[in-house]
Amino acid sequence: MAMASTYDVLLSRLQAAFDVVEVGADPVLRTSDRGDYQANGVMALAKRVGRSPREVAVEVMGHADLEGVAAVEVAGPGFLNLALSPGFLSQQLTAQRADERLGVAASPTARTVVIDYSAPNVAKEMHVGHLRSTVIGDALARMYRFAGHRVIARNHVGDWGTPFGMLIEHLLDLGEDEAVASLSIGDLDGFYRAARVKFDADDTFKERSRARVVLLQSGDVETRRLWRILVDESIAYFDLVYAKLDITLTVADIVGESYYNDMLDDVVRDLGAQGLLVESGGALCVFPPGFTNRDGEPLPLIVQKRDEGYGYAASDLAAVRDRVGTLHADEMLYVVGTPQAQHLEMVYAVARLADWLPQSVRCEHVTFGNVLGPDRKMFKTRSGETVKLVTLLDEAVERASASLAERDSDLDEDARRHLATQIARAAIKFADLSTERQHDYVFDLDRMIAFEGDTGPYLQYAHARVRSIFRRLGEQWSVGPITFGLDAPEERRLALGLLAFPEAFQMSLAALQPHRLCVYLFDLAQRFTAFYDACPVLSSEGPLRDERLALCDLTARTLNLGLSVLGIDAPEQM
Ligand code: ARG
Repeated sequence: MAMASTYDVLLSRLQAAFDVVEVGADPVLRTSDRGDYQANGVMALAKRVGRSPREVAVEVMGHADLEGVAAVEVAGPGFLNLALSPGFLSQQLTAQRADERLGVAASPTARTVVIDYSAPNVAKEMHVGHLRSTVIGDALARMYRFAGHRVIARNHVGDWGTPFGMLIEHLLDLGEDEAVASLSIGDLDGFYRAARVKFDADDTFKERSRARVVLLQSGDVETRRLWRILVDESIAYFDLVYAKLDITLTVADIVGESYYNDMLDDVVRDLGAQGLLVESGGALCVFPPGFTNRDGEPLPLIVQKRDEGYGYAASDLAAVRDRVGTLHADEMLYVVGTPQAQHLEMVYAVARLADWLPQSVRCEHVTFGNVLGPDRKMFKTRSGETVKLVTLLDEAVERASASLAERDSDLDEDARRHLATQIARAAIKFADLSTERQHDYVFDLDRMIAFEGDTGPYLQYAHARVRSIFRRLGEQWSVGPITFGLDAPEERRLALGLLAFPEAFQMSLAALQPHRLCVYLFDLAQRFTAFYDACPVLSSEGPLRDERLALCDLTARTLNLGLSVLGIDAPEQM
């Protein structure tokens, strides 16, 4: 049953009251420790209408429907602190319990959201640098889907360009079987490096590679077949990594750079027809206004290189056209490393100039910080190489498995392995998602996988602990309507935490900041611990026991749903 969340109920009532003073004035409603909710919008409103905040606060409160609000206090320069009545809290908890979505309304209008994420490169290892794009992108995709939108994932893999000449020649030198063998065990970097070494050392190999690029670009059938081998083997390997990490990307979402090849002529022709192309050093470029280098000279976006080949920018322009024109995107998110910020901004600017990207389409570069090693430098292996994503995952599973084995449990080998995998993924994903996106973080497996602290496994454990209460209860617990008295302060705090799930989810999504939802879940788990320490559950009796069990049940469901929309499993038992 769909319900109006506590936040939405209060917001719409306050909105009506703020509207009386100025239509559309934002009440700026937040959960707060001073009161249960706090509206901070009075100060800005008072300033705009040139009146004193106190006076405006009094007027707003005079107009607000305050049913369910037990007390209002005007604090400081005009904060409105609202304390909710137990009856209202009880009613909202009851509605939330009856709602599968726990109060998160599905958007009445489904938008089409194209999310560009992960995007590894063919014949190159998926390394820790791809981790953040993959994990953040997938969390956002899941959140958007849950919010009721249509998500189109685009895995813009690097599957085109001049390196493919040398890669194909190297494949021929090795022989197809051997090449496939080395790629399929995931030695992508070894393959790439060997090709590179030959390219740099051997002039005839270099010549062959150049000729091969020409053949590839001209659509030579045999060359395309060889190229396909490289692409398919790499994709099979990426798929393995996605499965290990439980990422929702499928082969169907792989729409790499090469997909746009046939659209590139049109891109150039249309830019030319609009008079946007400028020849510069033999290359065709667009100079979007507002982009300059350090010396203040205009910066080009190179659409066609001197050798007539199209580059990375051209396929990104074609992708914008495809996503807007064919996929009808209402929103486009690029979950791509910060170093590509200028490239993407220039692509958007050129697409806007050419009228391919209407202002109504929200287009955002979702940036993220670096993953650092223990020395706070870029994360590398001891010998200075990039760290393979699979290695990290496997290591995390080993650790989790070992720590499970230490604890006495009745899990058989298979079950333990499965649980260890769930814990390992949670550790890695939560560490990544709970860091504010734009910040760097240190990859510290010991910390990430610990059952204590702000970690994925801690939240999984919190969830499993609540579920264990119901196992100990022994009987099937299902109970009719409950009146929540919430007499103990810990009960009340837990209840308010549970009721805040919808806005925590919505605000996290609106800001494209999964870490906000992580912060919420961690806080909820702590509220639960405080409640559980102070309020006996199984040893209490009658209606009080049912009330507390209902709080437990709703806590487990909230942790479960919250983790699942982030892409993290919540096992029943740990
Ligand atoms: N393959 C690129 C890389 O590894 C990322 C592609 C990002 N997406 C895009 N549309 N340019 O750097």
